[in-house]
Amino acid sequence: MQNSTFYITTPIYYPSDKLHIGHAYCTVAADAIARYKRQCGYDVYFLTGSDEHGQKIERAAKNNNETPKQYVDRIVAGFVSLWKLLDISNDGFIRTTDEYHIKSVQRIFKKLYDQGDIYKSTYTGHYCTPCESFWLERQLVDGCCPDCSRPTELVEEESYFFRMSKYAPRLIEHIKTHPEFIQPPARANEMLQNFLLPGLEDLCVSRTSFKWGIPVDFDEKHVVYVWLDALSNYITKLGFYSSDDSLYKKYWPCDIHLVGKEIVRFHTIIWPIMLMALNEPLPKQVFGHGWLVLDGGKMSKSKGNVVDPVALCNRYGVDAIRYFLLREVPFGSDGVFSNEALIFRINSDLANDLGNLLSRTVAMIEKYFNSRIPAPLEDNNELDENLRALCLGLTEEIRSCMDELKLPEALGAIFKVVDASNKYIDQNTPWLLAKNEASMPRLQTVLYHLAESLRFIGVSLKPFLTSTPDKIFTSLGINDAGLMTLQSLKTFFALKPGTAIVKGEPIFPRIDVKKELLALEQESLEKPAQAIEEQAQARTANEESPEESLIDYEDFAKLDLRLAKVIACEEVKRSKSLLKLTLKVGDSERTVLSGIQKWYSPETLINKTVVLVANLKPKKLCNIESRGMILCASDEGDEHLTIITSEGELPDGTKVR
Ligand code: MSP
Repeated sequence: MQNSTFYITTPIYYPSDKLHIGHAYCTVAADAIARYKRQCGYDVYFLTGSDEHGQKIERAAKNNNETPKQYVDRIVAGFVSLWKLLDISNDGFIRTTDEYHIKSVQRIFKKLYDQGDIYKSTYTGHYCTPCESFWLERQLVDGCCPDCSRPTELVEEESYFFRMSKYAPRLIEHIKTHPEFIQPPARANEMLQNFLLPGLEDLCVSRTSFKWGIPVDFDEKHVVYVWLDALSNYITKLGFYSSDDSLYKKYWPCDIHLVGKEIVRFHTIIWPIMLMALNEPLPKQVFGHGWLVLDGGKMSKSKGNVVDPVALCNRYGVDAIRYFLLREVPFGSDGVFSNEALIFRINSDLANDLGNLLSRTVAMIEKYFNSRIPAPLEDNNELDENLRALCLGLTEEIRSCMDELKLPEALGAIFKVVDASNKYIDQNTPWLLAKNEASMPRLQTVLYHLAESLRFIGVSLKPFLTSTPDKIFTSLGINDAGLMTLQSLKTFFALKPGTAIVKGEPIFPRIDVKKELLALEQESLEKPAQAIEEQAQARTANEESPEESLIDYEDFAKLDLRLAKVIACEEVKRSKSLLKLTLKVGDSERTVLSGIQKWYSPETLINKTVVLVANLKPKKLCNIESRGMILCASDEGDEHLTIITSEGELPDGTKVR
């Protein structure tokens, strides 16, 4: 076992945006798997990185008045610090702008060209820039990208093509004979039915209409298609086609490419065919995980519903966030992120169950045994035997979950021991045992079992949480590294009696749910200026790439815009930004909240006729339901903001179109 290798990768992320909690999900999951394999004794290589080329990045940089390189350097620095904050234990970080990668991709392209698998022709078809994907007319849905539903661009340019069709029968055979290759199995079926069996077209693998990519070195007006460039990262980082390919020899083929479900297609069709053409072994498994969604929709900057992982870590702690991500989302399916679910998990599992177990155990050892772990004096009690059996079975239970990448279930197994230990306290009532001198041997035994079971819990949690296991060991006075290994969980009585415990602060303070939710709501309200700025930035970006921003008239027509008269207005007591407006809209009246306190005092708005978005879903803010939103205009720095008003004689309730 000692020398077996294990190679795991995450996708490399586009630096077109700040990373959100959904991106962190994939990387934290890969990290837990990598840490688990290291704990089992594997020689692990864990790779992540950034996917820096392509039209999308070129445009984003231009919108930001930066060169593409300046742009990616700035954003990728943020990735690196996010992974550090989340305690990601990656062994390598690849940037596709790294020189070794560029050289190796050029060699791969040339080799495929020389052997006739890449040829020159003309591409006419559709391209989705946000997804960097080519689509055939028949694959579009209502003329839009079938993956992201955004409009595609019609492209006609001289291009190189990759003879995917030649390898399709071999790939179909491989998928059918290697059920473990695409996981979960439903995704394999999807690939066969939707893409492979209907017939694979040759793939366009170069572009000439923009510059930000790896140049085809024998025909420099072409740059390599960004997915060919990106997928190669998994081998170029290991030195493939370089003067030192020792890492490649050691770790390839990859054990797991962990990817989001929407990019399974690239990893199980284009990537294996590239490897077949290069005559290299295929990865052992591509695992497509689900998404972390908010209110039923995927997080995305364009929807304005992203959740910032840095803010969450700063607020609740890294381990709480790691725990939530790994426990809450059934691996392979979608999971919902909400503040309520996060706080519930922290309070119930971490503060109540685990935190209390540790603090009660340590407090009792302090109180009854002068802070020294007592020796167990009995070995024939059924309650003890049950707890021991559960602890001794834990390693195997985790192994069987982790073999199938069932991360929430593996954590569930650990928390079964936490629950059983808490129950063991209630069954043994140590506080009553302490009242009677004759029960001392029993009390010693009980507290020893609790301390030892906490050691099992601490060691088992190591792949998932990064600071909590050490806090548990410190509290129990364990500093012998030998007692922190998976190997050490083969024996129950390993913890030395007499060890001095160290009482510390609660490892997960309980959160006051009501107060916290109110505070979160309040803070989101205090940021109207920031929200407005983000909207302004999005608008500027859209202006510069109009083809991505055009909407159909039907989309516009969905808005019910009305003239509305302000008949009352006051400041919202608990908010520094909100005004509460009472609007008359034809025959009805309604309350609308607006974050414009900084620019308007309430009395100046009375009798003004404003423009109301009347069919916006109602939202409760500061316990007041806001039914709609009034339109405002502001400059970039939000120095100046004005509400949009109507000067004429038209009555309130009139439709704005
Ligand atoms: N650059 C490509 C990957 C190339 S790999 C050779 C890419 N980048 S990405 O930044 O758009 O997405 C990276 C990963 O983040 C994908 O696996 C994607 O599924 C994942 N996620 C993005 N949003 C997510 C959620 N809301 N939830 C879970 N994962 C999410 O695709």
